Amino acid sequence: MLNTKKIRADFNILNGKNGPAPIYFDSACMSLKPNQVVEAMNEYYFNYPACALRSFHKLSNKATEKVKEARQIIAKFINANSDDEIIFTRNTTEGINLFANSIGLKKDDIVLISDKEHNSNLVPWLVLRDKIGIVVKIIPGNENGSFNLDNFSKIIAGAKIVSIVHTSNLDGVTNPIKEITEIAHKNNALVFVDAAQSIAHRKIDVQDLNVDFLAFSGHKMLGPTGTGVFYGKRELLEKLQPFMVGGDTVEFTTYDSYKMLPIPEKFEAGLQNYAGIIGLGRAVKYLSQFDFKDIAEHELRLNTYITEELKKIPQIKIIGPEDQKLKSGIVNFYIEGTDMHKIAIMLDEMANIAIRSGRHCVHSWFENKKIYNSARVSLYLYNTMEEAEIFIKNLNQIVKIL
Ligand code: ALA
Repeated sequence: MLNTKKIRADFNILNGKNGPAPIYFDSACMSLKPNQVVEAMNEYYFNYPACALRSFHKLSNKATEKVKEARQIIAKFINANSDDEIIFTRNTTEGINLFANSIGLKKDDIVLISDKEHNSNLVPWLVLRDKIGIVVKIIPGNENGSFNLDNFSKIIAGAKIVSIVHTSNLDGVTNPIKEITEIAHKNNALVFVDAAQSIAHRKIDVQDLNVDFLAFSGHKMLGPTGTGVFYGKRELLEKLQPFMVGGDTVEFTTYDSYKMLPIPEKFEAGLQNYAGIIGLGRAVKYLSQFDFKDIAEHELRLNTYITEELKKIPQIKIIGPEDQKLKSGIVNFYIEGTDMHKIAIMLDEMANIAIRSGRHCVHSWFENKKIYNSARVSLYLYNTMEEAEIFIKNLNQIVKIL
């Protein structure tokens, strides 16, 4: 069981030392950062603020050592086969763009995505459709938002790429990646997984899932903004042609030739976010002290309470499956005819409750379902039952005056 009191002491904004703590229910957008992560970044800026991997003075050597350490920590965290399968990016979106533009797709190549992809796993493919003529096909899901393996099996033949979200930011449903990968590989398709919403909430073992590529962001997993990871199987990464090149991606150049560095450097163009990378390594170390089963159990307990209370309010409709066990720490809901931004702003004004409202970058799904927008509560390891109760109390008051 999680000790939320102890956990909250690690978060400056929650420990009460700087005024009343907000009720932070927006971790699917951005998690809070423990003080240990901020301190690790400050330590870089205060004590060894130099380029990693480029120069050979003591400060640079220290930065290089810390960046290497972060890569090792992250490789171990997702059980990558080797550290150099970890490529640092700015976020999941950059990972998807890197992949989409490096895999060498040609006209008429087929890419399959689910019907609940976030814009970052939709727009890069639509742009490639418009630029070079790839074909983007949507895998129809079940009515309750879960993945339909039969529908997938029916359209997989001939596809080159399956690019799929692991846990949906819309309803918290986790897709059966192992089964998807098995079916895709039998049909000679490669699998890319958007793990932005799952990485901080469940154990990811890339070898067990047997995914070919995977990306996630640091900012949703207690890490700094502007950090992320793109993972790929070594033999596949070696074949990819990086689309962003320049300093630090090449071993040698002449005026008319270049020799690329091996992975991961060939993908990490230009001076990197060293403080961020070091902070991300520290965040993963922090997260590794917990058992993901305890995090999931904690989120489910709060999610169950909130969902059961929302079901008592007749106007409220909940997005996704009825069973909150399938929905991680996300509760997304709407009221027909109400702009849910209004509800979010009122919760913030009345009780300092931070939730996200709108279409959550999944405009395509909202457009398809003819739902205007929604309000989303997303929970994490620092949230408490007391916060959930305050949220329900205030929401009930708001609904009465709508
Ligand atoms: N950051 C986006 C969200 O809040 C994707 O779900």
